[in-house]
Amino acid sequence: MKASTLDIVTAAQEQGYAVGAFNVFDDLSLRAVARAAQEQRSPVIIQISVRTAKAIGAELVADMFSAAATSVDVPLSLHLDHCPDPTYAMEVIDAGWSSVLFDASSYDLPQARELTAAVAAHAHQRGAHVESEIENIVGVEDGVGSDVIVHAYSDEELVTVAQETGVDMIAPQLGTAHGLYKGRPALLPERVRRLRTMTSLPIVLHGGTGLSPEDFASFIAAGVSKINVSTALKHSFLDALVDVSAEARAYGRVEPLPILAQIEQRVAGTVAEHLALFGSCGAIPGGAQ
Ligand code: 13P
Repeated sequence: MKASTLDIVTAAQEQGYAVGAFNVFDDLSLRAVARAAQEQRSPVIIQISVRTAKAIGAELVADMFSAAATSVDVPLSLHLDHCPDPTYAMEVIDAGWSSVLFDASSYDLPQARELTAAVAAHAHQRGAHVESEIENIVGVEDGVGSDVIVHAYSDEELVTVAQETGVDMIAPQLGTAHGLYKGRPALLPERVRRLRTMTSLPIVLHGGTGLSPEDFASFIAAGVSKINVSTALKHSFLDALVDVSAEARAYGRVEPLPILAQIEQRVAGTVAEHLALFGSCGAIPGGAQ
C-alpha cells in the first residue's frame, strides 16, 4: 500500500530498524522490490535516480509505482534520489511522488539553504517530504555526484540548516560512498550518534552497497533509519541476466516471460537479503511468514 516516506522512516526510527531504499531502473526491478517487501512483511522505499525518472517519465513512474503499491499490503513510498535541480524536484512532487532528496551539495551554503527551503515548502504544501543533502557524499551515480568533498559542515551547522529549511530527513556525510568501495571506508557511526542527540530528524545512510553486515548493524544501532542501496541491485540484475540467458540458450528456451520472472526473483532475493540485515523483516504484521 502507498504510504508517506516520513511515516515509513519515522516508524523505523521508533522501532530501531532501518528501512531499505532501493534504486530501481524499470518495472521489473520495481516489482522485485515490492515483491521482496511483501514476502518479508517489510516497508520499503522505492527510489529512482533523476536520469531514470527522466528516461521513463515522472507520470509513468508514478503510475507504475501506484500499481505496485496497491498490489501489496505493506507500506511502500516513491522517492526521487539525488536531485540538484529544484524545478525537477517540484515537478515529480506535482506528479504525486512521496518524497525527494534535494541534493544541494554542489551549491554554496546560502544558495543551498534558499533552494532547499523552497523545495521543502513546495513539498509540504502537497503532502510530500524532503530528504536534504548539503554535504558531498562521494561517488558519481547515474551522472550525479562528485568524487571530491567540496562542502562539509559541522554537526551544529548541519542541524541548524535542516531546522531552518524545514526538511524532513538529513543525509550527512558518514564516510560511505556511492558505488563499489576501492578500499576499506572510514565509517562514522559516532557522527550519527552525535546527530541523534541534537535532532529528532531521521538520518539517512547513503552508499549501502559493499558495507558489511557489521557496518549496517553499527549504523543502525547508532540511529540511522533509512539506508540507500543501488549498485547491489544493478549487479544482481546483470548477473541474473547473464546466468539466466545462458541457461535459456543452452536449453533452447526463447520465451522471454519465464526468463524475466527468474531475473525478477533473483533481484527480489538481493532486496530480501538487505531487508534482513536492516532488521525490517516482519515489521509489518500479517501475511503468511
Ligand atoms: P550504492 O550504489 O553504493 O548502494 O549507493 C546508493 C545510494 O546511496 C543512492 O543514493
